Amino acid sequence: MPSFFQTLLATSDAALPASAESSGSSLATIAYLVAGILFILSLGGLSKQETATRGTWYGIIGMVIALAAAIIGPDVTRYGVLVIAMVPAAAIGGVLASRVQMTEMPQLVALLHSFVGAAAVLVGFASFLDPHGGLTVAEATVHEIEVYIGICVGAITLTGSIIAGLKLHGVMSGKPLMLPGRHLLNLIAIIITVLLGIWFVGGAVTDEGMFVVDATGVIILIGATVLTGLFGVHMVMAIGGADMPVVVSMLNSYSGWAAAAAGFMLSSDLLIITGALVGSSGAILSYIMCRGMNRSFVSVILGGFGAAEGTVATGDGEQGEVIEISTEDTVDHMLLAKKVVIVPGYGMAVAQAQHSLSNLTQKLRDDGVDVRFAIHPVAGRLPGHMNVLLAEAGIPYDIVLEMDEINDDLPEVDVVLVIGANDIVNPGAENDPNSPIAGMPVLQVWKSRLVVVMKRGMATGYAGVGNPLFFHDNTRMLFGDAKKSVDEMLSAVC
Ligand code: TAP
Repeated sequence: MPSFFQTLLATSDAALPASAESSGSSLATIAYLVAGILFILSLGGLSKQETATRGTWYGIIGMVIALAAAIIGPDVTRYGVLVIAMVPAAAIGGVLASRVQMTEMPQLVALLHSFVGAAAVLVGFASFLDPHGGLTVAEATVHEIEVYIGICVGAITLTGSIIAGLKLHGVMSGKPLMLPGRHLLNLIAIIITVLLGIWFVGGAVTDEGMFVVDATGVIILIGATVLTGLFGVHMVMAIGGADMPVVVSMLNSYSGWAAAAAGFMLSSDLLIITGALVGSSGAILSYIMCRGMNRSFVSVILGGFGAAEGTVATGDGEQGEVIEISTEDTVDHMLLAKKVVIVPGYGMAVAQAQHSLSNLTQKLRDDGVDVRFAIHPVAGRLPGHMNVLLAEAGIPYDIVLEMDEINDDLPEVDVVLVIGANDIVNPGAENDPNSPIAGMPVLQVWKSRLVVVMKRGMATGYAGVGNPLFFHDNTRMLFGDAKKSVDEMLSAVC
C-alpha cells in the first residue's frame, strides 16, 4: 500500500477534476475567510492583558486553518517541494522561538520580518516569470505594478530588518551611520527606483494585454531589488539608539504591506487581509511609539539620533556625587512608606527580577503599603515588554498603571523604586533642551519624596545619555544586579 506521502508525491503534478477543484477552491475561500476573521479577533484580544491569552489562541487557530487550507487547497500541486521546504523550516523556527530570551524578542521579530520581505521578493519574481493569462491591458498593467512594488517593498523590508536585528543583537554598533550627503543619496535611490519601475511596467505588457516575460524585465527587477535592498541597509544604518523600536515596528508595517502586495499577485484574499492588518497595526504602533518618545515619524526615518548603549556618562552627564543606599535601608524606607511606586525598566528584564519583585510586592502589600507599578510606553525593548513580565510574575493588573495614569500622583508618593530603568526616568528630557531625548515624555519620579535607583553601575541606558536624576538630593543609588538586590530586600522584609 502506498504511504500517505507517496500518494501525495504521486499526485504532485496531476490536474484535479474540475468539480473537485471548484469545490476545493470554495472550501479554501471559506477557510481563508474564517482565518481572516480569527486574525482580526486575535488583534482585538491582544489589545488588553486580560484577553491577551484568548487573542493568542485566536491567532494560532487562524494560522492553523490558513495553513491547512493552503496545503489541502487546489493551488498546491507539488507536495514534495512543500514538505522539503516546510518541515525543516518549522523545526528551525520552533527551536529558535523556544530558545529565545524575552529580551531578545525584538531581534527575533526583526528576523521574521526579513523573511516576509524575502518572500515578497520571491513571489514578485515568480509572478513576473509565470503570469496568469486572460487579463485586460489595465489588469495586466496593475499586476506588473504590484509585482514591482512588492519586490521593492520586500527588498527594503528584507535588508532593513536584517540590519535592525544585527543592531538590536549588538553585533553592529547602535550608533547611527552618517554618510556625507545621505539624504541626497536616498533621494537619488528613490528617483532611480521610480524610473526603473516606469521602464519595467512600460515594457512588461503589450497593447493586447499580453505579458512580456523577457531578460530586460528580469534585469530591471534584479536592479531594483539590489537598489532598494541597499536603500533599506542605508536607511536603518542611519537610525540609532532610542529610535530602534520605532524602526522595528515600521519594518513590521512594511512587511505587512509587502505581504498584502504578494496577496494581490497571488489573488489571495487571506494574504491581503493579513498584510493589511499587519501593515496598518505596525503603522499605528509606530505612531504611538513616536508619540511616546515625542519624535516625529519623519525625523525617525531621517535618522541620526541616539548612541551606543551601555556607555558611561561623561561631561555634562556627571553632576556631583551620588548617594548610595543599602538594601536594608531601602526596605526600612519602604515599610515606613504609605505609598510606593515601582518603575521597572530594561535592567529588570535582563536580571529576570520580576518573580522576586512580585514576592516583595506581596509582602509590602500584606504590610499595608500601597504599592503600584508605573509603566512607560517604551520601557524595556519591545512594546508591552514590562506588562508581559509583570503579568508572567503574577502581579495583579489593577496595580500596574500606564505613565499618563500615574505621573500626576508621583508628588504624593513616599518612595519610588526604579529597577533597571534609566532613559524613561531622565529629567533631562524635560529640563535640558540640548538633551538628545529632549521632549520625550518621562516618568517624573524626582517629584516623589525619595527615589531609589537600582542598577549595577553608572552606565547609560539605550539612548546613551547621562541621567541627572542620579545626582538629585532625594535620589539614592542601590548598586548591584537587580535580582540579587530584590532577593536581599526580600530576606530583609521577612
Ligand atoms: P534603559 O534606558 O536602556 O536603561 C536600562 C538600565 O538598566 C541601564 O542603564 C543598566 O545600567 C541597567 N541594567 C542593566 N542590566 C541590569 C541588571 N542586571 N540589574 C540592574 N540594572 C541593570 O532602559 P529603560 O529605562 O527601560 O528605557 C528603555 C529605552 O530603550 C528607551 O530609550 C527606549 O526608547 C529604548 N527602546 C525601547 C523599546 C521599546 S518599544 N520598549 C525598544 C528598543 C529600545 P547598568 O549597566 O549600570 O546596570
